[in-house]
Amino acid sequence: MVISADSSDVLVVGGGIIGLVTAWRAAQRGLSTTLADPEPGGGAAQVAAGMLAAVTELHHGEQTLLGLNLASAARYPEFVAELEEASGRTVGFRACGTLSVALDSDDRAHLRELHTLQQRSGLESEWLSGRECRRLEPMLAPGVRGGLRVDDDHQVDPRRLASALVTACERAGVAFRRAWVGRLRVTDGRAVGAVLRDGTELAAGQVVLAGGSLSGRLEGVPEAVVPPVRPVKGQVLRLTVPAAYAPFLSRTVRAVVRGSHVYLVPRADGELVIGATSEEMGWDTTVTAGGVYELLRDAHELIPGITELPLTETRAGLRPASPDNAPLLGPTALPGLHLATGHHRNGVLLTPVTGDVMAHVLTTGELPEVARPFAPGRFARAPRAAAPAVPASRYTAPAQQEQSV
Ligand code: GLY
Repeated sequence: MVISADSSDVLVVGGGIIGLVTAWRAAQRGLSTTLADPEPGGGAAQVAAGMLAAVTELHHGEQTLLGLNLASAARYPEFVAELEEASGRTVGFRACGTLSVALDSDDRAHLRELHTLQQRSGLESEWLSGRECRRLEPMLAPGVRGGLRVDDDHQVDPRRLASALVTACERAGVAFRRAWVGRLRVTDGRAVGAVLRDGTELAAGQVVLAGGSLSGRLEGVPEAVVPPVRPVKGQVLRLTVPAAYAPFLSRTVRAVVRGSHVYLVPRADGELVIGATSEEMGWDTTVTAGGVYELLRDAHELIPGITELPLTETRAGLRPASPDNAPLLGPTALPGLHLATGHHRNGVLLTPVTGDVMAHVLTTGELPEVARPFAPGRFARAPRAAAPAVPASRYTAPAQQEQSV
């Protein structure tokens, strides 16, 4: 049954932090905006650790992405101030810096290589001896062989960020449709809205698909513009640091431990987040004994004292990965349809710049300079990433939440 037909300038499909920031910024620019998602603010922001790790998560071959990551990191303090003012909520931003350490000679070689890449990229990082690392963070294991001090990689609490964005959207006049979108509506070669699973039609001048790892599964999207995103599973643990143990860690600490990456993110409220696995497991979000074991094993080798702490939560989320690990931002070849997805490991970091970029595109039709390398058209001729089949119970309609960890 078609009930129809709400109409707005912009319809955002997906209420994770990327969909929310897009809706907030669009509404601020005077566009009437609707956001459709059964649970706005849910999704992978509920799992992510919230590292803003432009420098420490630098990878070979990702120099272009680095530019966007740095642009977003630079916007964070102002973004947080504006969001906290608009929402009346705090988001747990901590300008605490990060220490990346090595535990054996292979890990040290890996970290030396990263240091060289950072220097070649003009980034600030300082090599420290094991003793200097332990002076900064006394809970580190005595075996730490050296490390990199990066004072510009901070953190935010993604759960608080998501809640604040929901409130800021509400206050800016975004209309929430707490429901699943069933399919995109296309008329005369143009995206003109969407149909909810209950048959309600939503009309819109422009549609933004911000569905995280499931962005490629929305029915009605022409094959040629389906975003090539796939889920990459991340398991994450949460521990609590009792007040008597504080300060347990004063900054984010991370390491490669015999080839596997682990990070510990200490929040001001005593939460300690340990992450994350990186698994190509399709849509599976099971927390496994093996995943928890590996994270605790590596974290314990790094910080032996964690075994004293209560383990309060285990959870898995899905990063929306694109073929080049960078997001897809802006207009597609289908008039009226934009993408804001594929943020992979950097969804939280890229939230401020994504909001600004999408608002600019939606109001002017132009991608700003900083986002041009990330136009969806770069994959127009590339073969689609093979997306695993979605179990019917999990995906009878596309889930819309941003899933990056
Ligand atoms: N950026 C952290 C992660 O993806 O695990």
